[in-house]
Amino acid sequence: PVKYLKDYAPPAYLVESVDLTFELDDPETVVKSKLVLALNPKGTAGDRSIVLDGDKGLELVEDSLTVDGKVVPSSQFELTDSGLTVFESALPESSESLTIECSVKSNPAANKALEGLYKSGGNFCTQCEAEGFRRITFYPDRPDVMSVFTTTIVADKEKYPVLLSNGNKVEEGDAEDGKHYAKYVDPHRKPSYLFALVAGDLVCSEDTFETMSGRTVDLKIFVREGDVQKTKHAMESLKRSMRWDEETYGREYDLDIFNVVAVDDFNMGAMENKSLNIFNSRFVLVSPDTATDADYNNVEGIIAHEYFHNWTGNRVTCRDWFQLSLKEGLTVFRDQTFSADMSSKGVKRISDVVRLRGAQFPEDAGPMAHPIRPESFIEINNFYTQTVYQKGAEVIRMLHTILGPKGFRKGTDLYFERHDGQAVTCEDWVQALQDANPEIDLTQFRRWYSQIGTPVVSCSTEYDESESTLTLNLEQSNPQPDSEETGEPLLIPIRMGLLDSTGLSIPVDIGDGLVENDKVLSLTKAKETFTLKNVPKGSVASLFRDFSAPIRLEYSDGQSTEELAFLLANETNDFSRWEAGQKLAANTVLGFLARDDDEYPEISDKVVEAYRAVLRDEKTDKALVAALLAIPSNRFIADLMKENDPIPIFKARSHLKKTLAKVLKTEFEDVLKATEDLGEYSIDLKAQGKRALHNSALDYLGSLREPEVMKQCLETVREGRNMTEVLAALNVLAATDSEERDLALATFYDKWKENNLVILKWLGIQATAPREDALQIVKSLMEHESFDMTVPNKVYAVLGGLSANDFGYHIGGQESYDFMADQIMRLDELNPQVASRMAKSLSLWRQYKPEIQEMICSALKRIADKENLSSDVYEVVSRSLSA
Ligand code: ARG
Ligand code: ZN
Repeated sequence: PVKYLKDYAPPAYLVESVDLTFELDDPETVVKSKLVLALNPKGTAGDRSIVLDGDKGLELVEDSLTVDGKVVPSSQFELTDSGLTVFESALPESSESLTIECSVKSNPAANKALEGLYKSGGNFCTQCEAEGFRRITFYPDRPDVMSVFTTTIVADKEKYPVLLSNGNKVEEGDAEDGKHYAKYVDPHRKPSYLFALVAGDLVCSEDTFETMSGRTVDLKIFVREGDVQKTKHAMESLKRSMRWDEETYGREYDLDIFNVVAVDDFNMGAMENKSLNIFNSRFVLVSPDTATDADYNNVEGIIAHEYFHNWTGNRVTCRDWFQLSLKEGLTVFRDQTFSADMSSKGVKRISDVVRLRGAQFPEDAGPMAHPIRPESFIEINNFYTQTVYQKGAEVIRMLHTILGPKGFRKGTDLYFERHDGQAVTCEDWVQALQDANPEIDLTQFRRWYSQIGTPVVSCSTEYDESESTLTLNLEQSNPQPDSEETGEPLLIPIRMGLLDSTGLSIPVDIGDGLVENDKVLSLTKAKETFTLKNVPKGSVASLFRDFSAPIRLEYSDGQSTEELAFLLANETNDFSRWEAGQKLAANTVLGFLARDDDEYPEISDKVVEAYRAVLRDEKTDKALVAALLAIPSNRFIADLMKENDPIPIFKARSHLKKTLAKVLKTEFEDVLKATEDLGEYSIDLKAQGKRALHNSALDYLGSLREPEVMKQCLETVREGRNMTEVLAALNVLAATDSEERDLALATFYDKWKENNLVILKWLGIQATAPREDALQIVKSLMEHESFDMTVPNKVYAVLGGLSANDFGYHIGGQESYDFMADQIMRLDELNPQVASRMAKSLSLWRQYKPEIQEMICSALKRIADKENLSSDVYEVVSRSLSA
């Protein structure tokens, strides 16, 4: 059944308090619940029956259902596929407040969907967002029902020494039969999706944080024995996040305890349960020899993300799931800016944009396209998307750009003040920003919440020498999927700067006062012209600095190689400098692709010189230099073409890499030497930058397949000082047909086979290696002892890796797509959320050339024909085929 935003109705009953007792055991767990309900004064009058959500797998213990202590006979209630209805006849005359109790049986160990209560690595844990609580017990499982939770956990003392839930521990002790118990009360009212429980054999690292008002918070990170020393970075990141949220948003933590638990079996990255965040272990556990710099940065970002949810998500939550971006877009924006503040802003921005373009743009152009606030869905789990998260964050970023940091902060202050403790909508959010900034009109801006698709802004410039004016002619179009009409014009903030012909920044003057550096223009109409005054001849305007809006920018007359090389050399904005380099490289790749044989044209000297200058640039931060050297992705190139033909694009990109490696060999070798850090490992920015640049040079030189480099890579895999360096070397080898490749993979496996997280890398590198035999490799990986279809991380590494393999996946043609379809069908029986995530890769068929489209569609049809598809996979596949 499809759910619609427009059908929202307030809940009939509110829950004043909820008291849960978990008698945890394998195979049978019993959950007792006691809800105190009250009619919602804002609910619609009418039938007073109580309707509670409950999964159809829930087993109600006979005669356990009572209302105000009286057993409800079976004639007075009904169990359905979606829950439990207690008829009016079972209720007392006046139901100002009534108590409903019941017991439910389940087998958490059999729960492979990893939603609700399940077991991971021998421990019990939960995942309730979005609608997992209804797999635990009967409850009004919707975010606008907020209640005070009391939780008692009873479990075997030896097997499950640690018992955790939300809030404060108020009681604990021994129970019968070798069991023990703990009781928790969470004083903050919360929706059921924020409920959490963990029971297991865990140890923890501990620290404290003193809040800005002087309270001490106990911080604990729970992991398996042996992993404690890998939690240091997560702990430091947590303390930095807590401080940053106080300094940046004035938000203080609100309990005396904050727990994080790492589990190996988890569908997503992590979950912000009140005071008990549960994490996919790969976003907690890092050490130099087992994790890369990218892993360290992910840990920092995700720890921050979940912590920030305490205010943006928990204290102020969502009225309904259509509002998901209210908390996710805002919280992603907050974690992005936090990470940027902790590191190099430009490099962070570049990686955020790469992700947006690589994953959100295709989604927005495909059959699953939806506005950041969707209007309908079948399965909410399908809407934890790049659009809701990443585009959602871009929308918040634009608000920040339009209001400026001070205006934005005024807005968030008002938002928290007004809505603390409430479940609200995206409208409420924008309204708070609007009311705090009455001088700026956000009416048009609201369209970003309801309009689908990636806007295209096209630009042409005219210079008038006699007037010294530069005119920007801008046009926006908002192509809508499945419709000829374009959408309404949006308010698009354009952060821009001007450089004179010598590369110096000059002020921007559009007649409303000089702006020294960045000027923010507001494009509001379909067509609009801005005239810049006092512009010397030969100046260059740089538009959309920091990628100030999630749009595609086109220059109607193109941008010349000279202009791009000029910007790559001189632009002061890191993002725009990188963008110029990407376009320069992309134009070269497009030039290669214009020949349909393999006789690629010579690469232009100007391009070579531009890259030489980058390689010789000693002034720029090395992490940025590494980013500047990255060959644009397949996706970046495909976006500039009419259709995506991945194999030739991949070949042309590889050719560019090899050509640059050949002509700039000395420069690359110099860089390699200059970045051979022999000092102690450190995660600081300088050290990271050095490693990034080193690995980039190695990647270029490795593309030439010279025996020397192959040997050196093998040596690094054997003796490497840290995982960042080892993985880069292994990655170079994985693409080759060398003896070194086989040796390196075998050595690596032998060394790390006991470490699940490291083995994910070994699996992933093989699945993504651009080789003709990628499909065969993936098939044998799935037979390998290290693979397990029930562990999402492994599926993401292998099947996710294959689907991201621009060359190796598509070269397999129909066989590849059919294979993927088969795996999705197998997975759907185990874990629909993971299956659906894989199915989304097939849903992007429309971007490809017609032959590929047909093949993917035929694979999709095979899935559609399967009986008993989950609602998750059904929604993705049916939307893909009906478009
Ligand atoms: N709220 C979590 C986060 O972004 C994501 C949980 C999503 N889980 C799911 N099963 N859809 O941090
Ligand atoms: Zn989140």
